Amino acid sequence: MIRLAPSILSADFSRLGDSVAMIERAGAHLIHVDVMDGHFVPNISFGAAVMKSLSGKTTLPFDVHLMIEDPDRYLEDFVTEQTEYITVHQEACVHLNRTIQHIKSMGVKAGVALNPATSLSTLDFSIEDADMVLVMSVNPGFGGQKFIPSAIEKVKELRTLKMERNPRLKIEIDGGINLDNVKTVTDAGVEIVVAGSSVFGAGDVERNVREFLAKTGQK
Ligand code: DX5
Ligand code: ZN
Repeated sequence: MIRLAPSILSADFSRLGDSVAMIERAGAHLIHVDVMDGHFVPNISFGAAVMKSLSGKTTLPFDVHLMIEDPDRYLEDFVTEQTEYITVHQEACVHLNRTIQHIKSMGVKAGVALNPATSLSTLDFSIEDADMVLVMSVNPGFGGQKFIPSAIEKVKELRTLKMERNPRLKIEIDGGINLDNVKTVTDAGVEIVVAGSSVFGAGDVERNVREFLAKTGQK
């Protein structure tokens, strides 16, 4: 099953509660929470307090994407009963194995994100430990960027690796996903689709979610 994780980075921050209620009503599966620190990426978004404020507004699980330096310092802050994944960047972790174990020890699934220029080979010794790999299809930092096509080849290679070494691993993609390219990436092996501006950026949010679900064979 393909899961849709709309990113609230592109939502109207003045009415985030309504936004998450809308995407839940329309059938989205996860809330993608983009945390940016202005160091690892050239932009600042929001932190754990904002995420936690949504707990009463939606029952959807949180899919936390930490685009921050030294993520170990902040992992606990993002652990709630609703947190399904915490994803850290391979490029931000000096001791990735330790960080993955730390996330799992708190009862949360561990994801590892790879920037567009980062090779899959950096996961040679982590692929069995991770619950999810997030393939970035834009350089992280901003919503609304253009999809980088080399991500498709990376997803295909990752699918092969997954089948050989960790079949329960999930493959997520993030950046520049829209109704025109979502089928291409899910055909390549993506199981969790992040979409920000194409859900919240234009038109009716609930209709956008439903169209995504229809494209990926959900409804
Ligand atoms: C990029 C973030 C993405 C972003 C996606 O740095 O990690 O999750 O919000 O936005 P779109 O779908 O607009 O590329
Ligand atoms: Zn993200």
